[in-house]
Amino acid sequence: MRKIDAVALPDNLVHEQLQDRVAVVIDILRATTTIVNAMEQGAKNIVPVASVDSARILAQDNPDSILCGERGGIKPEGFILGNSPFEYSRKVVDGKSCILTTTNGTRALRMSEDAAQVVVGSLRNLDALCDWIKTDGRNVVLVCSGTDRRVSLEDCIGAGLIIDRLGYAATDSAALMYHAMHSAVNRFDGVRFAIESSSHAKRLINLGFAQDVQFACEIGVSLTVPLFDSGVGEIHLD
Ligand code: MLT
Repeated sequence: MRKIDAVALPDNLVHEQLQDRVAVVIDILRATTTIVNAMEQGAKNIVPVASVDSARILAQDNPDSILCGERGGIKPEGFILGNSPFEYSRKVVDGKSCILTTTNGTRALRMSEDAAQVVVGSLRNLDALCDWIKTDGRNVVLVCSGTDRRVSLEDCIGAGLIIDRLGYAATDSAALMYHAMHSAVNRFDGVRFAIESSSHAKRLINLGFAQDVQFACEIGVSLTVPLFDSGVGEIHLD
């Protein structure tokens, strides 16, 4: 039987968890949701970068690309786009390369790059993602990005939903996320309300991004499964 493992933070990964596995990076609020949407809206590729300074330098060397990202949820000075999925419309990103740096999500992507394949997971592409994993055939590790190096409820709920859909043999930490997801969803009467109860969702709502939270909670509406090619450092479609 195929196996599924999970970490609540990328900092918890040990090399063996990535070896020969598909790593699904999850940052429901908002990086991986935004990446899925940007690719769906026709972005040529996305280059995840760990720091704001490296992103600025890369954008200077690639003047046709779009400099995107956030710190503290807000677009850094001089950036073209922030991290709201609504900013990534077809009109803006179609055919473009996006250089993206976010506090946790792009960091988790880079920390997963020793996996056989890194895939971008969100609630929006949940069904297409699970179909992709089933077809791929390898064992899986789910990498929750967390928020400021702390475990985040929304990413654990996302991981729990993937574990639920796949039905693979779960490690203890994957089983914990599966049970936590069911418990939170029952307690709050639905995925959206459970996610809205998270501290990150509350912070985003206070910053005026309530629509982003709602968008991130729409399950299975996207067929887009972005893949991170760590060799070239780009996220693209198949
Ligand atoms: C991150 O990568 O930390 C997030 O996507 C933060 C955000 O909500 O913009």
